[in-house]
Amino acid sequence: MSAAARVQRSFRRGFATYDDSALVQKLIARGLIRRLQRHAVGARLAHVFEAGYGTGQLTRLLLQRLPIEALHLNDLAAEPLAFAPEADYRPGDIEFLSLPEDLDLAISASMIQWIADPQTLIRRLCDAVRPGGWLALSGFGPDHFPELQALGSQAAAPSLLSADAMAGLLPTGWTLQEKGSRARSLCFASPCEALRHLRDTGVNGRASRPWTRRDLDAFCHDYDAQFGKAGRVPLTYQPVWLIAQKA
Ligand SMILES: C[S@@+](CC[C@H](N)C(=O)[O-])C[C@H]1O[C@@H](n2cnc3c(N)ncnc32)[C@H](O)[C@@H]1O
Repeated sequence: MSAAARVQRSFRRGFATYDDSALVQKLIARGLIRRLQRHAVGARLAHVFEAGYGTGQLTRLLLQRLPIEALHLNDLAAEPLAFAPEADYRPGDIEFLSLPEDLDLAISASMIQWIADPQTLIRRLCDAVRPGGWLALSGFGPDHFPELQALGSQAAAPSLLSADAMAGLLPTGWTLQEKGSRARSLCFASPCEALRHLRDTGVNGRASRPWTRRDLDAFCHDYDAQFGKAGRVPLTYQPVWLIAQKA
């Protein structure tokens, strides 16, 4: 099975539990739209494309807060959203999708880390935006899930970019309005709970083989030994974001 097919399967399995578990992604979506609105005061944001809408955490905010006239939605694995029946759905792998043109805004939260060639995707999104329009992007940085990295996990998303690196991929003619990064740790009662959280948010799709009981026991033992404190273990997200405007 290809890496993209594993990511697709993993997110499909996680969608039923995603909204209850994806607390950090919820904060990220809120932060992204808040920052966009802070910079794009008075801007026309009516023609919008969102990549990787998932269960629609960001989509719902877009519909609530922006004067949307046309909304194009893409995802590799998600079904159409009940609360957005009018949207133009463009399912499939964003890397092979033809994008709408003349957008006021291209936006994506917590998706770009899954893209093998983020430079090409950012250029294509930027090309799809009209002059004066906006790009709002969030992903995860190189220090994402440091606990899993320290334990030798090979399942990380392929494109963990720092905010600087992401901003460095903007084409000429774009003005960076804001970039940033902020670590957020969740705490779990055990390493198994942390693993369940990963499964429930669909983000363990890069694991290339199923674990044996022995793999699992060894992983949980090492996780607890290295990071356990007062009966809890942390799992640390590193969200990164940028807001930019086309000249
Ligand atoms: C962590 S979820 C984020 C969902 C939503 N944006 C949010 O903020 O909650 C990542 C989403 O990206 C989608 N995705 C991953 N790779 C993709 C690709 N190559 N093309 C389109 N969507 C993709 C997944 O199916 C999943 O729904």
